[in-house]
This record gives sequence, structure tokens and C-alpha cells, in this order.
Amino acid sequence: MVADPLRPTSEPWPGMEAVRRLIAQARSIFVLTGAGISAESGVPTFRDAMTGLWERFNPEELASEEAYRRQPELVWEWYLHRRALVAAAHPNPAHHALAALAAQKHVTLVTQNVDGLHQRAGSQHVIELHGNLFANKWLDGCGRCDEASALPGMPPRCHLCGALMRPGVVWFGEDLPRVARFRAEHAAQTSDLCLVVGTSGLVYPAAALPGLAKEHGAPVIVINPLPSALDQTADLVVPAAAGALLPLLWPQPGMEPD
Ligand code: APR
Repeated sequence: MVADPLRPTSEPWPGMEAVRRLIAQARSIFVLTGAGISAESGVPTFRDAMTGLWERFNPEELASEEAYRRQPELVWEWYLHRRALVAAAHPNPAHHALAALAAQKHVTLVTQNVDGLHQRAGSQHVIELHGNLFANKWLDGCGRCDEASALPGMPPRCHLCGALMRPGVVWFGEDLPRVARFRAEHAAQTSDLCLVVGTSGLVYPAAALPGLAKEHGAPVIVINPLPSALDQTADLVVPAAAGALLPLLWPQPGMEPD
């Protein structure tokens, strides 16, 4: 019988007790999250955000430097739309549970998400492999560009050099932030347990991190209501929604797990 990923949290899912034991025994936990951990916050995944007037576009048509150079106003407007969607959302129990875990164990939290919900739930030192939706950068900036030099516009421009402000996210075809990638890879190699939550495992190099942890001896646990490309790497797959399951896997503030 396939477990219902959203069924009442009082019922165990297959593998749940084994995961609880692994977490209790772990000294240093590497966590990789993806869009699925924000699903219960109502944040659309990258592809689900293409609704309303955006439904005629593919994300790849908008989330690239080439697209931004070609249609800066349209792409900037799309990011403002996504910022509004995320700003109206709230962290869900999965985000809060991971923040609580870091108070009990040494945790390195690496996310592919750009929504900042881990931080809003209280997680610190989050490694954002794909940047952050609310951060800004400059396209061909003069080096002196900053928010103070930005002239209002769609998008804003630097009044010193005319450079375009751009969202501080990693676009298709761009490299990951070097420091973030190095820190994530180092943590994957030195942790003794790897939790993978809410990712399809299709986008590299992020998707290579669980395999790196496994190569260095860490058991890999995948939490996802649907099959993912990382199930083959996993030692345990728990077919559950993150918001329903995570709060049951370790002690939560004010609540002992049942
Ligand atoms: N709990 C756990 N997992 C969930 C939940 C949930 N409640 N709901 C959905 N999922 C799972 C889906 O089954 C899917 O496997 O979350 C995963 C989301 O996959 P994607 O939408 O591909 O998101 P992600 O894996 O984060 O994509 C990686 O690709 O789209 C680009 O740059 C973007 O960072 C993103 C990267």
C-alpha cells in the first residue's frame, strides 16, 4: 500500500522509526532542501509560478541573463510577481522543524530555494545555492553601484554607470556562488547523516551533494511524497509530505514527538 503523504501525522510512515533513530544518533547532519519543502507554504515551485499572464512563458525563457538583456522590463516584472507571491507566504512546520533541529544537532542546511523561508523560520547560516529572490545585483555594474545609486525604474538603473539592477538569483547557465558551493560540498563530505527534503533531484550540481555525502559514509534519507531521481542514492525513502513528517522525527520546542 502506498502511504498517503498527507495523512494525519499521528500515523507512522514506512521507515519513520529508522529515520528517527538515525537522526538521534547523528552528530552532524547535512540537509538539502528543494521547492517541495515550501509547497505546504503555498509557494509555487519554479514551474508552477507560470500562471495567469505568465503562463505563456517557460521559466527558461525568463530566468537567464540572455532573456534579461533582451527584455529587462518583462523579466524584472516577473521577479516582482514572484517576490509578491513569496512575501505573502509563511514558513510551514517543515521549515520550523529544521530550525528546531539546529538547536539540538550540528546541522548544515543547504537549499536550492530562493524564497528565504528557512531564514524566516529561524534557520541561520543557510547556504543558498541558487541565491535569494529578494537580493539584488547589477548587470555589468561599475563596482560602485549600490541601492543608493539606483534610480527608480523597471528595472532600476545605476545613475553612475547606467547598469541594470538584477535579481540576486542564479540563472540558467550561470555558475553557483563559489563560496556557497564549496561550503555545501565540504559539509556533505564531513557530515554523518544526509537528509534530502522536497527535491526532484534533477538539477546539478546541487543534486550531486547527497551522492557525495554517501561516498563519505553518510546514510542518505529522502523525504518526498513522490519518487525522485535521488531515490536510487537513498538508503531510506519516506513517502511523506515534509510539513507532516519532519515535526515527528525529532523533539520540537514545547512538543515531545509521540
Ligand atoms: N513535501 C516534500 N516534498 C514535496 C512536497 C511536500 N509537501 N510537495 C512536493 N514535493 C516534491 C515533489 O515531489 C518534487 O519531487 O518536491 C519536489 C520539487 O521538485 P522541483 O519542482 O523540481 O524543485 P527542485 O527540486 O527544488 O528544483 C531544483 O530547479 O527549478 C529549478 O532552480 C530551480 O532550485 C530549483 C531547481
